[in-house]
Amino acid sequence: MSEAILLVGGKGTRLRPLTTHTPKPMVRAAGVPFLAHQISRAAAAGVTRIVLATSYLAEVFEEHFGDGQREFGLKLVYVTEAEPLGTGGAIRNAAEQLTAGPNDPVLVFNGDILSGVDIAELVRQHHLSRADVTLHLTRVPDPRAFGLVPTDPDGRVLAFLEKPETPEQIVTDQINAGCYVFTRSVIDAIPTGREVSVERETFPGLLSGGGLLHGVVDSTYWLDLGTPAAFAKGSADLVRGLVDSPALPGPVGDALVLPGAQVSPRAVLSGGSAISEDVHVDDGAVIESSVLLPGARVGADAVVRNSIIGSHAQVGARTVLDGVTLGDAARIGADNELTTGARIACGTDLPDGSLRFSPGTMACTPHLGAVPQTVPVRV
Ligand code: GTP
Repeated sequence: MSEAILLVGGKGTRLRPLTTHTPKPMVRAAGVPFLAHQISRAAAAGVTRIVLATSYLAEVFEEHFGDGQREFGLKLVYVTEAEPLGTGGAIRNAAEQLTAGPNDPVLVFNGDILSGVDIAELVRQHHLSRADVTLHLTRVPDPRAFGLVPTDPDGRVLAFLEKPETPEQIVTDQINAGCYVFTRSVIDAIPTGREVSVERETFPGLLSGGGLLHGVVDSTYWLDLGTPAAFAKGSADLVRGLVDSPALPGPVGDALVLPGAQVSPRAVLSGGSAISEDVHVDDGAVIESSVLLPGARVGADAVVRNSIIGSHAQVGARTVLDGVTLGDAARIGADNELTTGARIACGTDLPDGSLRFSPGTMACTPHLGAVPQTVPVRV
């Protein structure tokens, strides 16, 4: 196996406001762009060339990673869709840059999946089964939120089922884990020049046309980092070593502090928190299972739990945040309290002592316009 396509062109709407200025795969998890974890894992599994299928904020990727040789020891190639073509359209578009022959395997990764899957084993299974496409499947405790992928005892995919609506429709706990091995010629058969969903169109189409789709159930770590809560958890799990990444920029532990961060010795960091460069954390602050992006500031005695603090965002003294996503350069003044899913748009400025989260109450301000799932209320 030497070639892969990485899908990184989505708009990342579920992760807003973190994706306002940064494409989702470039948001830092455990101190480095999330994509670095995926690329380094692929390199460790023997991938030597990756085509990055970009679209949204496309230029950011090459500016950061260049040709990939120095950082990862593999070759990175970039293709850009003028208009996003969906997952299948993006794979087809990226094929222009593949060097693999028609019968060769090509790995395809979604750019927002953190997993411990054995990539080399997936490719081995692809060769053994002689499948058109081999899919990594993972088991989830509650399959109701996912499309389901039942297989027969030999691993042959039987169907791609929509999200189940009744208990009877939950025929398996296996779901598509967003990592595939395609036989190259199958990619070339995807229609060009239009939007195609690999999950909704390509795979069901192959199945109904008699194609062989092989599912490999791998029960190692798996997480879709598409939402803020999942992103914070994924970052913390990387820091704590619950999933391996050659790109982790420090030892596994209870917190990761990058060089150039200034953390008071009287602050308490725990739960796999990741503190980027140029971050300031003042006396008595408590940071638990959170991600602090470059240039963020947390004031004295503030508490930040299960939260993501955007680049150059500020949290005032004694403010408590739990499950909050603060956009880049947003400022929450001192003595505020925000919890459970609140998202604050980039550049928002909330004064000192003005906010207490109150479930069920709505207070939309122009600042908060695009984002509130839960909304802070003036007291
Ligand atoms: P949401 O808007 O929050 O659903 O996120 P998303 O835009 O990333 O979509 P989704 O999570 O369904 O995408 C799965 C993977 O495919 C991600 O790595 C995306 O970057 C990627 N992706 C989705 N749509 C496109 C597309 O049109 N073009 C390219 N190149 N990649 C895409």
